[in-house]
Amino acid sequence: MHLLGLEHLSRDQIVGLLDSATEFLGVGRDTPKRTDLAGKVIANLFYEPSTRTRLSFTLAARRVGAETLDFSPSGSSTAKGESFVDTAQNIVAMGVDVVVVRHSSSGAPHLLTRHLPGVSVVNAGDGAHAHPTQGLLDMLTIRRRKGRIDGLTVALVGDILHSRVARSNIHGLTKLGAKVIACGPPTLVPPEVAQFGVEIAHDLDAILPRCDVINLLRVQFERQRSAFFPSVGEYAHVFGMTGERLRRADPNVLILAPGPINRGVEITPDVADGRNSAILDQVSNGVAVRMAVLKWACQPR
Ligand code: NCD
Repeated sequence: MHLLGLEHLSRDQIVGLLDSATEFLGVGRDTPKRTDLAGKVIANLFYEPSTRTRLSFTLAARRVGAETLDFSPSGSSTAKGESFVDTAQNIVAMGVDVVVVRHSSSGAPHLLTRHLPGVSVVNAGDGAHAHPTQGLLDMLTIRRRKGRIDGLTVALVGDILHSRVARSNIHGLTKLGAKVIACGPPTLVPPEVAQFGVEIAHDLDAILPRCDVINLLRVQFERQRSAFFPSVGEYAHVFGMTGERLRRADPNVLILAPGPINRGVEITPDVADGRNSAILDQVSNGVAVRMAVLKWACQPR
């Protein structure tokens, strides 16, 4: 089974993955490693920088008994001009069951599905398109902290336009019955998100009191080709989550951020490290989510 984006999954499939991830919480730490994927080989192909996602997939694979191969383009034959597909085909020829791929081009994982017969492809983030395991770990964190997803109001704040995390959150959360608000400067909130039932907002202070969850997206400076707002300082002033804003929100509002965070831009340190923040829980939950996803990917198609 491939996992390319949450748009392709049904509500029941998403809930099934969250339930499976819940069973994997603590495996390899509080309880022994599992052998679900013993004999399987998972190849991580990361063509873009990553800390959390890459390490989390590796740890997850080991905790369910799989072997891992880690590829990054620097120091590889990519420097000699080998193409993306040729590299992937050669790695797979070593006997690989699942390819986990991160790439700056949207659609790179889809391309691999056409060139790697018999291998499952898991999208670990492709361009501005999708980041399904991040969407799942955000949902698992919300479900564990709030006890449900259905009926909650979740604001995605910031650079919606360039954010694959935003897109995966939108598909997953709306399928599970949450109300999603996309909030940011008009230049960074594409009006098309409204077609998925998402409310568009440009004034964070106005929506603050009705949010159960606020997911603060990093401004994706590396994907921006022009100036989308006057200055970083002004962005932080208008859309940054500060202690002062937090005091005007629901006292139990859950603060999420996919990381890496830019302290002082989308979030101030007091909020990032405060009692409403679930940022490090997200990372812990991510390992369990990836165990569930790898097991799911290894099912016969
Ligand atoms: C995100 C990504 O790479 O899409 N990070 C992550 O996977 N935790 C978000 C980001 O880079 O801002």
